[in-house]
Amino acid sequence: MEPRDLSAHVAYQAGRGVEEVARELGLDREELVKLSSNENPFGPAPKAVEAIRETAETVHAYPKAAATDLRERLAEEWGVTPAQIWLGNGADGALDYLARAMLRPDDRVLVPAPGFSYYDMSVRYHHGVVEEYPVRKSENFAQNPEMVRSAYDGHRIVYLTSPHNPTGSEIPLSDVETIAEETDEETLVLVDEAYGEYTDRPSAVGLLADREDVAVLRTFSKAYGLAGARIGYAVVPEAWADAYARVNTPFAASELACRAGLAALDDRAHVERAVETARWAREFMADHLDCRTFGGAGNFLLCEVGDGTAVAEAAKREGVIVRDTTSFGLPECVRVTCGTREGTRRAVEVLNEVI
Ligand SMILES: Cc1ncc(COP(=O)(O)O)c(C=O)c1O
Repeated sequence: MEPRDLSAHVAYQAGRGVEEVARELGLDREELVKLSSNENPFGPAPKAVEAIRETAETVHAYPKAAATDLRERLAEEWGVTPAQIWLGNGADGALDYLARAMLRPDDRVLVPAPGFSYYDMSVRYHHGVVEEYPVRKSENFAQNPEMVRSAYDGHRIVYLTSPHNPTGSEIPLSDVETIAEETDEETLVLVDEAYGEYTDRPSAVGLLADREDVAVLRTFSKAYGLAGARIGYAVVPEAWADAYARVNTPFAASELACRAGLAALDDRAHVERAVETARWAREFMADHLDCRTFGGAGNFLLCEVGDGTAVAEAAKREGVIVRDTTSFGLPECVRVTCGTREGTRRAVEVLNEVI
């Protein structure tokens, strides 16, 4: 007995976990500054922690109202109907639902290169074919309609990321609209705004009022500090929003995660602190790191350090965990998450020593 041929599937490479590295180095986790997974350095929203504690008493029961409440609440925030909110087990889960709903076997999609690797994985799980469009370092990783135009040929989904991971570059809303205009009616333009809270640019959700070919991805993992709870969502056009009921995994958005999400939405102070500090940290790192940096829109910076693997390894030995971007096809870089002020200063000091 064997699984089907999985040779085209590549395992997801997450940033190193803090316990894992602490054990390896024989250190306490408190001695480490983890800046490798673009998490919230202040932890979860305190109101979300409270909600998780309260909900713990009733987790013997299947989730009932929490997902409905969260969909209603998010619909209100975005000015759409609850049916247009597709909750998932993280934004990753919502990516899977979109692939399930959209892809027929052998449908081709376009993903950014470099880019977030789960797009490819999700498409392959759903028997689609992955092709790439370039986001070029020689152009400062600028994103525009030309990058898609250069590769587009009737693909079923075009994945856009804004702010982009790992480069931190953005794509203006007018360019998203141009891409949607220039691609076929049956091409979905999927705008991943996992880092949307960290930018002042308007969300692409605004385009859904007039278009049926744009969907937007958002998450509670970053600015809301709920990466471990696994809750994210897609906002999709009303015309086909009812497909969710036919593709979602029953109860995938757990009661704990939905209650945490609802509480986090009420904790504006926590999000604002994360966003403010990230803004400060981006500037501080760009000004003080002794290397070229890219980005400025997410809660991280891409740093051209020469040998990314060696620098990440050396920084780790000094207690600062950053993301080697070799798996993104950028072996000369590391990606550094915005930490607290103290954590960011320490990271800059250590990185400058080891570069
Ligand atoms: C661009 C991008 N999209 C989506 C995700 C997935 O987020 P989630 O934790 O909600 O699954 C990430 C996570 O790092 C990301 O960087």
